[in-house]
Amino acid sequence: MKGIVLAAGLNTRLYPVTVAVNKQLLPVYDKPMIYYPLSMLLMAGIRDILVIADPYNVSAFQRLLGSGEHLGVKFSYAVQWVPRGIADAFIVGEWFVNGHKSALVLGDNVFFGPSLEAAIKQASALEQGAVVFGYPVEDPRRFGVVEFDSQGRVLSLEEKPAQPKSNYAVPGLYFYDEQVVEIAKSMKPSGRGELEITDLNKEYLRKGQLRVELLGSDVQWFDTGTHDSLLEAANHIAQHQKETGHYVGCLEEVAYRQGFIDREQLEALAHKYRNTAYGLYLQKVAENG
Ligand code: DAU
Repeated sequence: MKGIVLAAGLNTRLYPVTVAVNKQLLPVYDKPMIYYPLSMLLMAGIRDILVIADPYNVSAFQRLLGSGEHLGVKFSYAVQWVPRGIADAFIVGEWFVNGHKSALVLGDNVFFGPSLEAAIKQASALEQGAVVFGYPVEDPRRFGVVEFDSQGRVLSLEEKPAQPKSNYAVPGLYFYDEQVVEIAKSMKPSGRGELEITDLNKEYLRKGQLRVELLGSDVQWFDTGTHDSLLEAANHIAQHQKETGHYVGCLEEVAYRQGFIDREQLEALAHKYRNTAYGLYLQKVAENG
């Protein structure tokens, strides 16, 4: 399975912070935002990953993440010249997906929690169709919303409904079979001029090929689309790391635990960040396993 991180977009909701800097390069506590969604793909066991960025920032992502060799993975890069919508990732990335199954994660979505890894691994094992997730939120009007019947079957999907039919949002982590590029290419822009990921998911629903898995109650999900949700995510991660001693979204650790790199390689990465708490943490992981 291939992986795509979508990290372009105008991010006008975070102006003036994002006038000159791509949102996904901003820190969420002690790491660049993009580390968190990227770590989801690594956790799924995906090693071939496309980073889609806007034309002004793609070189910054290349400086940050490089070829991926240090993590035992391969990063490729592509530019989304115009923010045409989330489903456009599969048009921009058609050459990369190249007839494979693929996972898409939004560059501003932060997840953590013990049951997450199993949920993601299961989703990435999909044979046919699509797998997305459901997560209860207080204000579903900000998101894609999924409605279930009393048996838990999916009835409808709506993008930012004024009157949501449930409080289950669909987070920005999606798993698709080989049909996804053709579906994306057949889509029409929505009223706000975007190729909506919810419309793409609705097509899978129409075909009877959409599975929606509810994320466990131990999982936390943050969309960092507003100043408050960004701050909330950072505070939660800081608190979690201090309380448990375990980092969230630490790419080097995930790569090591997935067996993509060995202890020696992890120690070399720890050395690169020596004199920082991050480097000390990596050293500790290398020593204690
Ligand atoms: O966060 C989950 C939500 O993300 C879903 O529940 C919604 O169904 C989905 O539409 C999306 O809603 P947002 O309003 O949060 O999307 P936003 O425009 O903020 O973009 C999300 C990320 O995708 C952000 O990191 C920027 C990137 N993006 C977005 C668009 C529209 C791109 O890179 N290119 C684009 O064209």
